[in-house]
Amino acid sequence: MTKIKACLFDLDGVVVDTAKYHYLAWKRLANELGFDFTEDDNERLKGVSRMRSLEILLEIGDKTLSNDEKLAIAEKKNVWYREYITKMEPDEILPGAVEYFKELKDAGIKIALGSASKNAVTILERLKIMHWFDAIIDGTNTQKAKPDPEVFLLGAKAVGVDASECVVFEDAEAGVEAAKAANMKCVGIGDERILAKADFCVAGLHEMNLKKTEF
Ligand code: G6P
Ligand code: MG
Repeated sequence: MTKIKACLFDLDGVVVDTAKYHYLAWKRLANELGFDFTEDDNERLKGVSRMRSLEILLEIGDKTLSNDEKLAIAEKKNVWYREYITKMEPDEILPGAVEYFKELKDAGIKIALGSASKNAVTILERLKIMHWFDAIIDGTNTQKAKPDPEVFLLGAKAVGVDASECVVFEDAEAGVEAAKAANMKCVGIGDERILAKADFCVAGLHEMNLKKTEF
């Protein structure tokens, strides 16, 4: 059995449901560009970087834009997205997250964030959960997007734990692949048919406890 020494959490879809705000902002952008964007389409953007998300959106709308135009509208989307997240309240933390953080801390297990988002710190501050994290690795200090393992390897390094003693919590397929490429354990949050490469899946952090954090 492996003794886990660090837990690395994805943010969107694991600790908080920001997918709904990304959706509203992307939909507004799509509508402004003259096409529709559904919640099903939004599934394709989960765990995907901002610029890659925009490319998928433009594919859906069958639009071609220059690089400068893409940068400008990605920024516009981000301004709209930030209007939502800067109004978030601590009651938007997903069930069981804080209780689980407390259990881990009491057991001496390190906690790190491993998110693609450049808005991660804003969200953690709004939710008042910054203090739980021993390290924060996000879109501002990574170069390579998931499924590249960079974000989780940097997280393990920041808390001084070997990859083999880390477990990652992820709701996106690319995130599970990143965890496995980092040689870490992985708990999938959500549908086990989509997250088949995870060691096991749960519906949310409310289903986690210390006993289950042993592999
Ligand atoms: C997470 C979300 C994605 C989002 C990405 C970048 O991975 O799941 O939907 O596109 O972060 O977020 P940002 O806040 O930097 O636009
Ligand atoms: Mg996610």
